[in-house]
Amino acid sequence: MIYPKLLPQANLGEIKLRIRPESDSLFRSGKTGSMTMTASEARSFGPQVRMERAGSIAVIAIDNPPINAGSLEVRRGLLDAVQAVTENTEVTGAVLIGEGTTFIAGSDLREFGQPLEDPQLPTVIQAVEVSPKPFVAAIHGAALGGGFELALGCDARVAAEDAVVGLPEVTLGIIPGAGGTQRLPRLVGLSKAIELICTGRRVSAPEASMLGLIDATFDMDLKAGAIAYASSLAGQKKPVIQRSVPREPEATIKAAEEKARKAGRERPPVLEAIRVIRLATEVTPLEALTTEREVFQRLRVSEEAFALRHHFFAERQATKPASLKEVEPHNIESVAVIGSGTMGVGIAVAALNAGFPVTLLDMDSQALERGRERLREHYEGSIARGKLSQEEVSACLNRLSIATDYEVLGTTDLFIEAVFEDLEVKQKVFRALDQVAHPNAILATNTSYLEVSRIAEVTRRPESVLGLHFFSPAQIMRLLEVVQAQHTGLEALATGMAFGRKLKKLPVLVQDSFGFIGNRIYAAYRAQCEYMLEEGAFPEEIDQALEAYGFAMGPFAVGDMSGLDIAWQMRKQRAAQRDPDARYVSIPDILCEMGRFGRKSGAGYYDYREDPKKGKPDPEVAEIIRSESERKGYTRHNFNEEEIQRRALLAMANEAALLLAEGVADRPADVDLVLVNGYGFPKWKGGPVFQARQKEPEDLAREFEELARLSEHGFRAADPASLFER
Ligand code: NAI
Repeated sequence: MIYPKLLPQANLGEIKLRIRPESDSLFRSGKTGSMTMTASEARSFGPQVRMERAGSIAVIAIDNPPINAGSLEVRRGLLDAVQAVTENTEVTGAVLIGEGTTFIAGSDLREFGQPLEDPQLPTVIQAVEVSPKPFVAAIHGAALGGGFELALGCDARVAAEDAVVGLPEVTLGIIPGAGGTQRLPRLVGLSKAIELICTGRRVSAPEASMLGLIDATFDMDLKAGAIAYASSLAGQKKPVIQRSVPREPEATIKAAEEKARKAGRERPPVLEAIRVIRLATEVTPLEALTTEREVFQRLRVSEEAFALRHHFFAERQATKPASLKEVEPHNIESVAVIGSGTMGVGIAVAALNAGFPVTLLDMDSQALERGRERLREHYEGSIARGKLSQEEVSACLNRLSIATDYEVLGTTDLFIEAVFEDLEVKQKVFRALDQVAHPNAILATNTSYLEVSRIAEVTRRPESVLGLHFFSPAQIMRLLEVVQAQHTGLEALATGMAFGRKLKKLPVLVQDSFGFIGNRIYAAYRAQCEYMLEEGAFPEEIDQALEAYGFAMGPFAVGDMSGLDIAWQMRKQRAAQRDPDARYVSIPDILCEMGRFGRKSGAGYYDYREDPKKGKPDPEVAEIIRSESERKGYTRHNFNEEEIQRRALLAMANEAALLLAEGVADRPADVDLVLVNGYGFPKWKGGPVFQARQKEPEDLAREFEELARLSEHGFRAADPASLFER
C-alpha cells in the first residue's frame, strides 16, 4: 500500500518510566502499580491526535470530545502518528488511548450520509497492521463501531475494568466496514461473531476478556498498564488478521445464523453481516475485506441506514429540548404512584428498577393487594428469566411501600397518578395531593386523553403539574410523553424529562392536546384502516399488509389485544362532541354490542376460540363488514398491499402535519420517535414523517387532498409544510 507523505523523524522528548517491583503482575487483571512519567514532551498530529513517549513506547492519544468520535481529523492524525512510530527507530511499540472519558466510542455518523473523505478507517487500520511495531489499544469507557475495529487492528487490546466494546453497526442499518467482520471471528469464532455483530450488543470488559477480545484488564492506571504491556511485546507483531478462525461445528454456526436472522427480522444489514462474516473462512482476508467494504459502502447510503441515523440524531435532540437547556431539574429522591392498576404497577416497577424508593397507593385495599401481588409476580418472572438476580429483586422490593392514605406522602418528591381515566376522579386525587405534597414536589398524571390543564387547575400549584404519559407495559416500553400543560413550569418539565432519562426511557416533550402525539396519530391511522374496511378490505388483509410493511402487529390485531371496549367507552363518552356529519364507521361498535371485545372475550375482529393468542378470520365479522358497506352505499373493491400501506401512512403523515402546525410536537422528528418507540412503527422505515419527507411537498399536498376525498367529511387535509421544517 502507498502511504501519504512520510513524516520527519519525530522528536518525542524524553520520558522516564518508573515501574514498581510488583509490576510483573501487570498483565493479570489487577492493580497496575504506580507509573510516573516525567518530562513529557507531546507532539501533535493535527488538532485531535497527540503523541508522547514513555521510554521506547509511543503513546498516541485521541482527543475529540465528547466521545472521541473517529472523525476525518482523527483519522488523519492517527495515520500520521502511526507513520511517525513506524519511522522512529527509538520506538519499539505504541499505545493508542482516548483522552477524557472514553476510547473512540463510535464514528462520526454525520459523515455516513456523504462521500467519505480520505484517509478512511481501513487505511488507518492497515497502517497499524503493516507497521513493524506492535500497537496496543488501551480502552476505557467505550470502544464501539469504528473505534473497536481500530482496536481489533492492533496487536493487543487492554482495557479498564469498566470498559465496554462492541460493533453496533447493524443497528444503524450498515455492517462493520473496517475489518470488524473479519477480525472479530478470528478472536471469537464465527458463531459468536454472528451473535455480537447481528445484535450489536455491548460487551463488558470481563466478558470481553473471557471471549479473548481483550488481553488484559487494569483496575487502576490503564495508560501505565498499556505501556508496560506494549513493552512486554518486545517489538513482536501479532496482527489479528493473520490468525486463523477457531473451528466450530457447522451446526453451531447455523444455529447462530438462524437466531440472528429471526431476531433481526431478515433485514438486509443482518443478512449481509452473516454472509460477510462467513467469508472469514471461505476466501482470503484481502478478498473478504474488499467485499466487506463494498457492502458497507452500499448499505450506508441505503434508505434503512438513513432512517436509522435519523433516529439516532432525533433521540439525542428530543431528550434535550432547547427550551429546557438552562433549566435545572428538581432532585427526585422518592416517588409515589397513585393507582395500583395495570399502569400504576408498571410505572412503580420502572421507578424501582431505576433505584427510586416508591410508595404505591390505591384507595381500594384489595386493588392495592392485587397490585402488590402483580408486582411480586413480575419480579419472580424477572428472576426466572435471568433478567435480575435475587439480590437485585430484594433490593427493589425493599424500596417499595404501599399505602391507602395520602398522609404518609408528605416527603415524596414526585407523584405519578394512574387512576381511572375520569376527569372527576383524577381531579379528586390532585386535590388530595395538593394538600399533602411539599412545596417543591412535582405532580404528574398518566392520563391518555384528558386535558392535563383541567387536572392541574384544581391545585394551587399548576406550575408543578405535568403529564407523564407512559405506555403499556410501562416497565418495558421506552416511550414517555412529557406533557406541558397551560401553566406547567419549565422546572417541572425539566424534572419530568430528567426522570424519564433516569428510568432509561425516551422522554419526548409534547403539548397538552387531545391524544398528545401518539394516540392522536394512531387514531387517525386506525380510522383510515376502518374506512378501508367499509370500502372493500377485510381486517386480516389490512393487518397483513401493515405487518408486511414492518409493523409489529396490524391495527385490528392490536385492537383485539388491548380490548375493543375501552375505545368503545370513550366513543360513547365523546359522542356529543362528534361532528354528526363526519364519516363514522360503526363496525367496532357493532362488534362491542355483540360482546366481541377482543382476545379477552374470545372474539373481536378475529375469532380466538381455538387459539387465544392467534385469532383467525371470522366469517361472521366479514358479513358484518359487507353489510355495513352496503348500508352506507360503498361498492366494495379489492385493496392490494401497497394501497393499504400507502393510505395508512398518508393518514399518519397528514395528522402529523396538522399537529406540528398546531405546535403539539416540538419538531417533526419527535413524531417518528413516538410512533417507533410507542406504537410498533418499524424503526428501519424511519417513521411517518421520515417517509413523508422522501416526497416533494407539492406531491404530498396532492396526496393529502386525494386522501381527504377518499376519507370524506370530517377529514382535514394538512399543509405538508410543517413536516419539512427543522
Ligand atoms: P386500571 O383500572 O387498571 O387501574 C386504576 C387503579 O386506580 C385501580 O387500581 C383503582 O382502584 C385505582 N383508583 C381509582 N380511583 C382512585 C383514587 N381516587 N385513589 C387511588 N386509587 C384509585 O387502569 P390503568 O389501565 O392502569 O390506567 C390508569 C391510567 O393510565 C388511566 O388514566 C389510563 O388512561 C392511563 N393509561 C393507560 C394505558 C393502558 O394501556 N392501560 C396506557 C397509558 C395510559
